[in-house]
Amino acid sequence: MQVVVLNGVNLNALADRDSDLYGGVGLDDLETKIYAWGRELGCSVRCLQTNSEGQFIDWCHDARSWAKGVIVNPGAWTHYSYAIRDALELFKVPVVEVHLSDIEKREDWRRVSVIADVVTKRVIGKGPDGYREALVFLTHKGNDAS
Ligand code: DQA
Repeated sequence: MQVVVLNGVNLNALADRDSDLYGGVGLDDLETKIYAWGRELGCSVRCLQTNSEGQFIDWCHDARSWAKGVIVNPGAWTHYSYAIRDALELFKVPVVEVHLSDIEKREDWRRVSVIADVVTKRVIGKGPDGYREALVFLTHKGNDAS
């Protein structure tokens, strides 16, 4: 099973962001963990990160032809990007929204997710382990185990 992990805006700078919220883990370490979990769960993972909204959307469109499951953490785009919402809505395979921090317990504007109603599952506030939970969900839900 092939899974795409799309991390969005400012997630490249994770190591330098508020460690109380994001755990002080860098994107490289996060992706290393995700690749290891993918191997453990027997799925082939491709991690991508960009600060360009257009690139994020292009990767969504491209992944429609090969990904059997999708994990997205769009960062701040989560809270206002209807363009990313529309791109995610095109997927016919399960999409999991992941946030490292508990956005439900932060500022009012962060509690809004414009993608929440087009995703299959949400994993919020579990730090890096949230990506593992998403992978576990997808590997049990995916309809193609190859
Ligand atoms: C985030 C939460 C967003 O509100 C924030 O803008 C991020 C990261 C998270 O993973 O907790 O960049 O998506």
